[in-house]
Amino acid sequence: MNKLLVLTIIFSIISFSNGAPKCTSSSCASLNTKCTNYYCNSQAGCYGIEKCQPIDACHYPTCNSTTGNCTQHQMNCDDGNPCTDDFCNVGYGCYSVGNDCDPAVICQKNCNDGNPCTDDYCDYYNTCQHSLTNCIDHDECTLDSCGPNGCIFTNISCNDNDPCTADYCSNLYGCYHQPIECSIKVPCTTTSACNRNNLCEDYTCDLSTHTCKYTAKYCGGWPCINNQCMTGYITN
Ligand SMILES: *[C@@H]1O[C@H](CO)[C@@H](O)[C@H](O)[C@H]1NC(C)=O
Ligand SMILES: *[C@@H]1O[C@H](CO)[C@@H](O)[C@H](O)[C@H]1NC(C)=O
Ligand SMILES: *[C@@H]1O[C@H](CO)[C@@H](O)[C@H](O)[C@H]1NC(C)=O
Repeated sequence: MNKLLVLTIIFSIISFSNGAPKCTSSSCASLNTKCTNYYCNSQAGCYGIEKCQPIDACHYPTCNSTTGNCTQHQMNCDDGNPCTDDFCNVGYGCYSVGNDCDPAVICQKNCNDGNPCTDDYCDYYNTCQHSLTNCIDHDECTLDSCGPNGCIFTNISCNDNDPCTADYCSNLYGCYHQPIECSIKVPCTTTSACNRNNLCEDYTCDLSTHTCKYTAKYCGGWPCINNQCMTGYITN
């Protein structure tokens, strides 16, 4: 015998044994209940199909075995997780989305750590980040720090306790001390007699004591250096 003939014989033996009918439609129909109809498949035998089918992915049916009536029940989509809100879509059934207690959502909505000295934000990995708040005010006349109510800018004191200097603060470069020649009592009868050609001081003659009084010239917050009020940047 050639190989093809052997294969053909084996194949027909198999199909003969499988082809033997296991059921008829009427033998299967005799199994019918109010809720299930049975049909015959010559290969597999009788199989049942439930009469009650879900109307969509959000319902499941029950069948009354006495009447055969179908009742559709809403799917319970509650996943028991308080951090998700649960919904049903008639096409694909239950689904959940994170809500306000979902750690990821908390991060997106609320990274506030209650610390006014940190800047709070949610990073790419849904992790809260707290970077130190930048309290720098670029004012050289304040000390910059952070406290329970946020940034604190404390005025510095420029007082050098030297009665012969006038003490000022420049927002750009901090304290400066302007010399006033206070130790020399210059006698005078007129104010002009007090002029020492120092353009960084103001002067007046106190007529009750006939003594010059000198005060540092106020330059609107800028230092007075080398006979002139400074403005803008000073480089050393
Ligand atoms: C089935 O239907 C009958 C008649 O309506 C009713 O009396 C019975 O309670 C129902 N059974 C169930 C399980 O719902
Ligand atoms: C059950 O089915 C019968 C016949 O189809 C119908 O008359 C009856 O109203 C149904 N009962 C319910 C509760 O749906
Ligand atoms: C700090 O200095 C500024 C500018 O001189 C002034 O306006 C303000 O009142 C000062 N604040 C305090 C608390 O002294």
